[in-house]
Amino acid sequence: MALITAIASQKGGTGKTTTAIALASGLAHKGKHTLLIDMDSQANASKVLLPNYQQIAKEDTIYRTIIDMQSLPIHQTSNPRLSVSPAHILLSDTDMQLTIARDVLPLNMAVRGSNPCHIPVLVEGKKLTQR
Ligand SMILES: Nc1ncnc2c1ncn2[C@@H]1O[C@H](COP(=O)(O)OP(=O)(O)OP(=O)(O)O)[C@@H](O)[C@H]1O
Ligand SMILES: [Mg+2]
Repeated sequence: MALITAIASQKGGTGKTTTAIALASGLAHKGKHTLLIDMDSQANASKVLLPNYQQIAKEDTIYRTIIDMQSLPIHQTSNPRLSVSPAHILLSDTDMQLTIARDVLPLNMAVRGSNPCHIPVLVEGKKLTQR
């Protein structure tokens, strides 16, 4: 079972992204296979950890999990122990879509369905509300 840690605050500029990147990188450096799920539509953590971020299609980001109820997209970073489920700018619109959605795949179900070797999991973002 993955240990899931949320790094969340609605208040801006409080160090969420910095903490998530440093913690994820530190855990990977210590030998822990780690998955960082970027839930912030600014996608700053994704851009830092995935140099090819601009080439990643919407369907290969966490958008597909939140809206289309598909599996977690997992992208390897330059550290073989650190993976990222990248964010997408359209996450900023998902609040509206989720209010009218009938079925929403809870993020923790998506995490459980992903590769179990990703332990722990860090989730970063301003709003991590689930239905
Ligand atoms: N521990 C720290 N000490 C001093 N400065 C820090 C620390 N952590 C982060 N910062 C600085 O604070 C600023 C905001 O950090 P960061 O972008 O991580 O915040 P955030 O909460 O993710 O912001 P946002 O809400 O916009 O996503 C950055 O300039 C960062 O370098
Ligand atoms: Mg941030």
